[in-house]
Amino acid sequence: MDEIIEKARILVEALPYIRNFNGATFVIKYGGSAMTDGKYKEFFIEDIALLNYVGVKIVLVHGGGENINEMLKKLGKTPVFVDGHRMTDEETLDIVEMVLVGKVNKEIIKNMNLHGVNAIGLSGEDGNLIMAKRKKSQKGKDIGFVGDVTSVNTKLLRTLDEQGYVPVIAPLGVDELGNGYNINADMVAGAVAKALKADKLVYLTDTDGVKIKGKYVHTIKTREIAGHIKSGEIFGGMLPKTLSAKAAIEAGVKKVHIINGIKEHSLLLEIFTNEGIGTEIVK
Ligand SMILES: Nc1ncnc2c1ncn2[C@@H]1O[C@H](COP(=O)(O)OP(=O)(O)OP(=O)(O)O)[C@@H](O)[C@H]1O
Ligand SMILES: [Mg+2]
Repeated sequence: MDEIIEKARILVEALPYIRNFNGATFVIKYGGSAMTDGKYKEFFIEDIALLNYVGVKIVLVHGGGENINEMLKKLGKTPVFVDGHRMTDEETLDIVEMVLVGKVNKEIIKNMNLHGVNAIGLSGEDGNLIMAKRKKSQKGKDIGFVGDVTSVNTKLLRTLDEQGYVPVIAPLGVDELGNGYNINADMVAGAVAKALKADKLVYLTDTDGVKIKGKYVHTIKTREIAGHIKSGEIFGGMLPKTLSAKAAIEAGVKKVHIINGIKEHSLLLEIFTNEGIGTEIVK
């Protein structure tokens, strides 16, 4: 009996959040590193389905770096990184596109559709969803077809939402000349959240949030981020998340969360409980 009452308590705790978030827009980035384990993939899709059923407008952006590396190796190519960016020659771009759009994206939408979510897979190239320009590495080196987002076709996303579809975006972009670009998925998620003025931007990754001086912190203010990068506390894969988070918040996104995608139902815990888990980034 106690156990049943406890379940009711949990549902009641979620009530104000459900009321608040009905009709809200959440942009969720699903990290490649969180996507590898089948069990957690299932928990994640269940969480997305639940959010969808309580009326949250979801836009999902996924990564897939590990899947790309695997395929490159199978084809006898060695992945090369320059200043944290994948060196993307024409052949690599083809492989990136095949893996992200053809495999990773389709796997996610099939799974979402199985859970009753009307998921629709998109590459950033579809309908000029993600317009991009060629990026230079920090040290000015040419890194091939790696892009920065220049604009997001929010009209397409709104149209899909009005028709009841949940867009699932593979992080590629296109320029006015029709060149395709490989773009960091964190940056795509940040740009989409910014363009939609989303209520929340959530990064699901493979660690419990942002660690500062060896400890995971509950809250980080946008003005503290530059200092943590300078001191080297934030580096590598956490850089595009925190930098995009800062830009998104400055453009009106209410809150950004960085949580562990390889924890059972971490998304629901963060969104529907008072304690929350992971790190939140606020103004
Ligand atoms: N301050 C920090 N706190 C926590 N993790 C950090 C920090 N600075 C850097 N990192 C690194 O960032 C990693 C997460 O980024 P990573 O790019 O590896 O994953 P992802 O973005 O979720 O996946 P993908 O890039 O495939 O989409 C962590 O595993 C950790 O090694
Ligand atoms: Mg990453």
